[in-house]
Formats: sequence, structure tokens, C-alpha cells
Amino acid sequence: MQIAIIGTGYVGLVSGVCLSEFGHDVVCIDKATSKIDRLNNGEVPIYEPGLEEMIARNVAAGRLHFTTELAGPVADADVVFIAVGTPSRKSDGHADLSYVYSATREVAEVLRGFTVLVTKSTVPVGTGDHLERIIGEVNPDADVAVVSNPEFLREGAAIADFMAPDRVVVGSNDDRAKAVMAEVYGPLDSERHPVVFTSRRTAELTKYAANAFLALKLAYINEIADLCEEVGANVQDVSLGMGLDSRIGRKFLNAGPGYGGSCFPKDTLALVKTAQDHNKPIRLIETIVGINETRKRAMARKVERAVGGDVRGKTIGILGLTFKPDTDDVRESPALSIVQALLDKGALLQAYDPEGMETARELMPEIDYRDDAESVAHGADALVIITEWEEFRVLDFPKLKDLMNAPVLVDLRNIYSPAHVADHGFVYESVGRSD
Ligand code: UGA
Repeated sequence: MQIAIIGTGYVGLVSGVCLSEFGHDVVCIDKATSKIDRLNNGEVPIYEPGLEEMIARNVAAGRLHFTTELAGPVADADVVFIAVGTPSRKSDGHADLSYVYSATREVAEVLRGFTVLVTKSTVPVGTGDHLERIIGEVNPDADVAVVSNPEFLREGAAIADFMAPDRVVVGSNDDRAKAVMAEVYGPLDSERHPVVFTSRRTAELTKYAANAFLALKLAYINEIADLCEEVGANVQDVSLGMGLDSRIGRKFLNAGPGYGGSCFPKDTLALVKTAQDHNKPIRLIETIVGINETRKRAMARKVERAVGGDVRGKTIGILGLTFKPDTDDVRESPALSIVQALLDKGALLQAYDPEGMETARELMPEIDYRDDAESVAHGADALVIITEWEEFRVLDFPKLKDLMNAPVLVDLRNIYSPAHVADHGFVYESVGRSD
């Protein structure tokens, strides 16, 4: 099967590479010449465990190609995936679909033979209908079916999520398109990785409904964590006690500094807007958007408390800047809000992140960036763990204590046991654990 993927961001690149691993012939297309040049030189523009090896293997097998040229690969393709960005529009919080629309126009001009055009990007309900109209205007003779096939992969676990998904959702009412999509995902064991066929609008909405539900779970456990601190309870035990009920499930119940990343903040906001536009506001999601925003900055107050009430003139060491481990992505990371709040309060910041410092340097130039946890600890009045990278789970406490101005640890991911840290003579603050 010939597949073209437009956009080599996280979703586009991982999908393209994994589809070639399935055995399809895949061309990944991007306008950014520098990105395509890097990919053609065997370099991977994003940090994603296992991706580099998989790219090398499939390029060597002749199944995976990278190009800036759209016309040829799209004309030859049985299936064209659109996987360009749909960021939040600054003016109103709606998903900005301009990249999706322009990609669709370009595709429409060069389509040849029956082609399935798939939206992989997260797009609001009704986008597929609009794309059909665009294609009708640009190329009324095109034989095309527009399908919604939202992607549910997580950064950092993207390959496993794509190769062994809990489910694949395909939205289309066109029988020819459904048969093609069944073939695309044919290599998956359908018992363990079911493909759910729905209408196109249902598939589009399913993606938002799923992300908003996960965000809801997080916002909920974070508020329970705040209550735990007041009443002398332990949120990790509450999570376990709740999560072992199979109707609730244990995943996504780790309290922390609030959710970030390129998906939850954007998609919850977009769902809120869509629901308001249709006069069916989802108040639950409106509320969690607010809760999560407030939470990120509230974490700075935890740091203040830990250093005795005022961070002005104090040196705070930050461990972790990405929105979660195993990614170099700092988009909407809680670290951005926490850092800003600490800077506003007059703190001096030094920080380290294993993968995220390149982008962080541009976004947060006021920070003094260091090469490892120990140099961050040097002269610090407190250390704050914002991202739970593996290497922060094995900190050398005696050494850190010697290097620091005062032994204070604020652990916003609950990766240590309070007793362990206290044994090393540290003042310790975590999230929702006060029993
Ligand atoms: C999320 C969804 O999990 C994917 O299914 C979806 O495909 C993706 O968005 C998307 O729409 O593209 P991702 O943003 O990569 O994936 O990251 P998650 O692993 O879901 O984490 C999101 C945020 O929640 C992170 O800031 C993470 O630290 C936080 N989180 C997650 C917690 O605070 N506690 C938890 O228990 C789990």
C-alpha cells in the first residue's frame, strides 16, 4: 500500500515510521527543508525512544522516504494522511485549522485515482465535511473519501502506542475507504488491537472526548491531593484505593503540578469552544481548564512555603523542564508557569533537564542552565523536581546536601518517600501527602 504523510511533527513522523514498519511504502512530506534534510541524513528532529532505530531499519528496507515534494507522492498514494499542527488560536482558543486547510488544498490539486484522505491531526467535529467542500472547490473531479482517524499515541511511549494501540478509531461512511483503512491497519492483531469503525463526526469527537476525560481524571486527583494535604491523608494511597476498582482504573491518577503538553491544554480548550458554539456547554471541562491553569502557578507557593515563606533573592534549583519525561517537549509544561511565578517573586533560578534545555533556553532565557542535577544543587536554597526523569529518582542526597545552601527538596511528582528524604536531613514538600 502506498501512503503519503503530510507533516513530520510528533504524530506525523511516528505514524509514518510505524506504518512503514507495518510493511507499507511510506513517504513523509514536510515543507521544512531543514527537517527533511536531517531525516535524510539519519538524524531524528524529535526525542522519542526507539524512533531512530526504526527509521534506520525502514529506510534501509526502502519502505520509508522523506521529501519536501508533495505532488508526486500524493498522486501515487492510496492513502494520504494529514498530520500537520492544529494549535490553539490565540484570539479565541479554537483549534487553528489553517495548516490542515492549506495541506488539503495542495493535496486536492494533485490527486490521481481513488484516494483516501485521512485526518490524523486532532480536528474539531465537522472538519471532515469542510475538507470535502474544499476538495470539491479545488478539484471537482477528484475521486476521494475523507476519513477521520485520530491518533491516541503519547509522547515518550509513541512507538509502543502506535504499534500496539488499545484501539484504532476510523470514522467514515464510505465502504471503499473503510476497506482501505482496514488494509492500512491489517497488520495489527484485531483481537488485541481492535479497529473501531464509526461515522466521521463521531471519530472526530471521540478524540476530544478521550483527551478531555483523561485531563478530567488528572484535575480531579490533583484537587483530591490538595484536600489530602489539609486533612492529613495520602493521595497515592487514595489513588491506589480508587484505581484498583476496575471501573476507575489506576492510570492517570498520579497527582502532580498539573497537566501540560501539546495536547490536553489545547484539546480541552477546543472542546469547550465547540460545545459553546453548539449551545451545549460542557461545564465540567470549562472548570478543569481553569483548575489546571491555576494549579501550575500554585506550585510556586509550595516552593515559597518550603523555603520559609519568601523566595526573593533565594536560589532555586529546578530539576526537569519538559512536560513529562522521555520527551524534549516543553510546550505548555507546568515548568513554564512555575518558573515564571518564581521569577516574578524575585527568585534566582538554575535548572537542568536531560532533553528539554535547547527549547527551554529560548522560552526561559532568565534561567541559568546547568549540565546535571549536582550543578543545579550548587548553592541552591531549594531543589524542585518538576519532571520525573529516571535520573532524578536516584539523586545522591548526601552529596546534594553538601553542595546546597540549605537542604530543601520540593518533589512535585512524588517520586520519593518522605521518610527516605527526611533520613538524609532534608526539608521535604511533595504533593498531597501529609499523613
Ligand atoms: C496525550 C494522551 O495521553 C494521548 O493519548 C494523546 O494521543 C495525546 O495526548 C494527543 O492528543 O496527541 P501526551 O500529551 O503525550 O498524550 O502526554 P500524557 O502522557 O497523556 O501526559 C499529559 C500530561 O499529564 C503530562 O503533563 C503528564 O505529566 C500529566 N500526567 C499524566 C500526570 O500529571 N499524572 C498522570 O498520572 C499522568
